[in-house]
Amino acid sequence: MTSVVESLPTLPEQRCPVPHGQPKHAKSSDIDAAEEFLEQFHSETVPAETLDRRLQQVRHEIDTTGTYTHTLEELEFGARIAWRNAAKCIGRLYWNSLRVRDFRHVSSPSAVAAQCVEHLRTATRAGKIRSTITIFAPDRPGRPGPRIHNEQLIRYAGHRTAGGEVRGDGRNADFTDHAVELGWQRPEPAGRFDVLPLMISGGDQQPELFDVPRDAVHEVPLVHPDYAWFAELRLRWHAVPAISNMPLEIGGVTYPAAPFNGWYMGTEIGARNLVDADRYNLLPVVGERLGLDMSSERTLWRDRALVEMVRAVHHSFDIAGVTMADHHSESSRFLTHVAKEERAGRRCPADWSWIVPPVSGGLTPVYHRDFDEPDPETRPAFLYP
Ligand code: ARG
Repeated sequence: MTSVVESLPTLPEQRCPVPHGQPKHAKSSDIDAAEEFLEQFHSETVPAETLDRRLQQVRHEIDTTGTYTHTLEELEFGARIAWRNAAKCIGRLYWNSLRVRDFRHVSSPSAVAAQCVEHLRTATRAGKIRSTITIFAPDRPGRPGPRIHNEQLIRYAGHRTAGGEVRGDGRNADFTDHAVELGWQRPEPAGRFDVLPLMISGGDQQPELFDVPRDAVHEVPLVHPDYAWFAELRLRWHAVPAISNMPLEIGGVTYPAAPFNGWYMGTEIGARNLVDADRYNLLPVVGERLGLDMSSERTLWRDRALVEMVRAVHHSFDIAGVTMADHHSESSRFLTHVAKEERAGRRCPADWSWIVPPVSGGLTPVYHRDFDEPDPETRPAFLYP
């Protein structure tokens, strides 16, 4: 793995989902989808077997079992293409280096939980983060695969307080309530950065909870390069963003549990997670400490506090030796990716409103152009839960 910066799909705003009724994807694999995928696989790579032979096998397998099994090479290719197709992700330049952990034989909630923990350990590598996906059992006709209900493998609880506020991450307040209903013992006293348990169900069973061991959660304490008081805010964030609730669909087969991670871009933490009003809402606190004139919006105190927040995030990850991208470099890398795709004769659909960073948009080159329109039917893909 190189030391070049990359990051995985940046994902859409959504409330943290709570378990929903029947899994949607437990039907038979569709032959057309399988064919389309195998054709793509054979056109972009040089497999040992001919396309005709492979198609014959797969048609036969679908006729007799209702589904088929990807070879390891097909699985790896499919997962990487799903990343390459993720229109909201700015970090797609290194799609081809995604590490694929094949755990298709694993479906019991406790074994899934254990492999999620192992995923975190091997992807974190003490800060030298590697983009990794772990793929668990697929849905088969009448036999749905396991599901991970957490939005990410590591998320902080949002504890509702008596005063009607939330302590911690407001995004996860519903999920936190649900975990408590299922028997989660929240830390006493409730903190702002309490790691939530994994909530996993096997097939259509009730979800079960599993704690993520402390040592699998690498965190970075936040300090500022110029302001010593920043450390007194006692903020931190986890090193690895690992999306865990997006089913992966390849050639008509759905893998409902396929957690994947890249690494952070500073603005995700410094301009959104810690700043959004319904999350940690920290700009007023930082503005105050900076002694800014907060009497009117026109003083741009928010903008000034925001930049200091992002600086603190970059600086803290750098001194902790944890991989992190910044929005300037990542934006130009993305344009390199688009150009490379064009040279390979492919389009690179992208969602402008997701690609443009939430800070200093117009200073980055991605702001000044538009991109091909994404097609929601494109596969392989990570689906929205
Ligand atoms: N924005 C999400 C978060 O702040 C993470 C989405 C994926 N990001 C990434 N760099 N791979 O937790």
